Amino acid sequence: MPEKRYYITTPIYYVNGVPHVGSATTTLLCDAHTRYRKLRGDDAYFLTGTDEHAQKVADAAAKVGKTPQDFVDEVSQRYVECWEYLGIKYNSFIRTSEERHKKVVREIFSRLQASGDIYLGVYEGWYSVADETFFRDTDVDENGIVKETGAKVIRIQEDVHYFRLSAYGERLKAHIAANPTFLLPETRRNEVLAMIDDGLRDIAISRKNAGWGIEVPGDEGKVFYVWFDALINYLSETGWPDNENWSTLWPADAHLMAKEIYARFHATFWPAMLMGLGLPLPKHVVGHGWWTVGGEKGSKSKGNIPEPKAVVDALVAASGAAESTAKDALRYYLLRDIRFTDDSEFSLELLANRWNADLGNDFGNVLNRILKATYFDGVIPASAPLDPGLTAVAAEAVAAYEKALERFDWGSALSSVWPLLRAVNVYLAEKAPWKAAKAGETAAVAEAVYNALEGVRLATYLLSPVMPTVAAEVASQLGLESLTSGTWEDSTRFGALPGGIKTGEPAPLFPRVDTKILLAPPPPGDSAVSPSAPKGYPAKGEKSDKQPMETEAPTSNEITIDDFLKVELRVADIVAAEKVPDADKLLKLQLKIGEEDRQIVSGIATAYTPEELVGRQIVVVYNLKPRKMRGVESKGMLLAATDAEGNAILLQPDKKADSGSTVR
Ligand code: MSP
Repeated sequence: MPEKRYYITTPIYYVNGVPHVGSATTTLLCDAHTRYRKLRGDDAYFLTGTDEHAQKVADAAAKVGKTPQDFVDEVSQRYVECWEYLGIKYNSFIRTSEERHKKVVREIFSRLQASGDIYLGVYEGWYSVADETFFRDTDVDENGIVKETGAKVIRIQEDVHYFRLSAYGERLKAHIAANPTFLLPETRRNEVLAMIDDGLRDIAISRKNAGWGIEVPGDEGKVFYVWFDALINYLSETGWPDNENWSTLWPADAHLMAKEIYARFHATFWPAMLMGLGLPLPKHVVGHGWWTVGGEKGSKSKGNIPEPKAVVDALVAASGAAESTAKDALRYYLLRDIRFTDDSEFSLELLANRWNADLGNDFGNVLNRILKATYFDGVIPASAPLDPGLTAVAAEAVAAYEKALERFDWGSALSSVWPLLRAVNVYLAEKAPWKAAKAGETAAVAEAVYNALEGVRLATYLLSPVMPTVAAEVASQLGLESLTSGTWEDSTRFGALPGGIKTGEPAPLFPRVDTKILLAPPPPGDSAVSPSAPKGYPAKGEKSDKQPMETEAPTSNEITIDDFLKVELRVADIVAAEKVPDADKLLKLQLKIGEEDRQIVSGIATAYTPEELVGRQIVVVYNLKPRKMRGVESKGMLLAATDAEGNAILLQPDKKADSGSTVR
């Protein structure tokens, strides 16, 4: 029997519209995670695909005068092309209109019907085509709008088949309790538990056959409700039940998605179906937040969020970088800034900032500076002593990266690489090999060059699942065939860079993005989007019908909303506090921000004792560059007013907020 593979999935995307940076994000998370698991030695298997039987898909086809099948064939192909364009390497692309899938849907229906989990009834109530979801009266306002999603509902009354979801509440709770990392992140687990406590209702799994969908066996007047059909794709892929090797894939290791399809579908309905079938549940169900645009969810139907290619084209135009570099930078931005506990605002300005600051200054420049200096005729010095400071920072970065990825938290994993890159920059400035070279201190130059290049190699190795092309370019500039030297453990050891190798041709990795070009409004009278502003996304100053934007020139101390959004403010819980020795004003606080642990140092000791702080919620500037105060690391800054004597008055949420949630 072949061994179990590491199996990871994206949602299958509705084909009522084309892929955008939102759907790309989940697919990229899975791509990066697959690459990471492979680096760790797993035989990882990555599934994505398209969900083709939705009513809204049939409606979209009708709108353009196409048959549903022709329409889904075309749009599904757009997903295939877009994923290829972004360098996404999946093992299989499943489409729910494929016969192999339909067969499994029918098989599951028959089994659940035979076991009494499916029964016939009448549904009278609300249905939202946009959400493809049945809603209760209490979910809908007096204008027929779903409170949670803002979508319109229609009233339906139909004979339907029901799945007995109500019978599974206790078993689901027991599974969640016994498997603390089944539902990730923790905030979403709490939502699911609250939903179960509220009482799970049986769920309609068939609809009147309007000519599109998988027909219900024995009842051809009906087709399966699209979610019953769609969730099964994860199992169809394995070849269950006929393929004797189905259990090399099942149970899935991780289903990834955004929050709107988490609790109702992936964390309750799907596990209950699997329980009914006597099949094991996926190991992790992981839900991330949304990309918003002007505070609204970015979505296909609203058309307010750009396609990846439009963003890449804009980056290329504004930087002169190669298209492959721009693709990797977009990959980096999407994974660095998507959050698991909260939403993130998609902004070209923030993307440019990540490019110029993180990728250009902190990452690309170091390598270029060293290689251009051609110390030792471009040959990496052999057997230089390892710098203990860098060795320690590198070990911490690797540990934090691995820990974050146990929770699939790519944002934290990526940010944990930056202390290493910053340390390399500081190290180089301190060691100043250019001066040592002039002074003829060959051993000192060799040590500085080797250690700095090794820092870059290791950081690049950790970034490689997210920026594969850039990583290959760095390897080639370092004169290496590969950044790895065997196992994950070998490759993440500081000092794995082989000495004595002739480095390749230096070239700047991330030429600066000119934000004026990137954010340029379209020329007057041009109704199309500006060539550099991605389609579907308003350039700065351009009016969007979704959200009017500032057009007047700001006065001296005014800032734009984009300026403000650069500051990430988050709610944090104080879990421990103590005085900083020999500093009257400073307290060292240990914080929990979402699932992350952090330490900050703050000058509030004249106003608060450590004891009265523990257990409080505060607001912190989350993305402040870390610094040391009296030699103690501080990562972020808390917000406080001051009284007449200059004592701090802490700002705290009016009532308990989710830890890690954004403040705006
Ligand atoms: N077809 C269903 C999923 C069935 S899975 C068995 C569906 N499709 S969808 O096309 O609407 O895709 C939803 C998913 O796309 C989200 O859960 C998320 O993974 C991704 N995203 C779509 N818009 C997004 C944002 N604005 N932000 C982040 N992710 C986004 O629901």
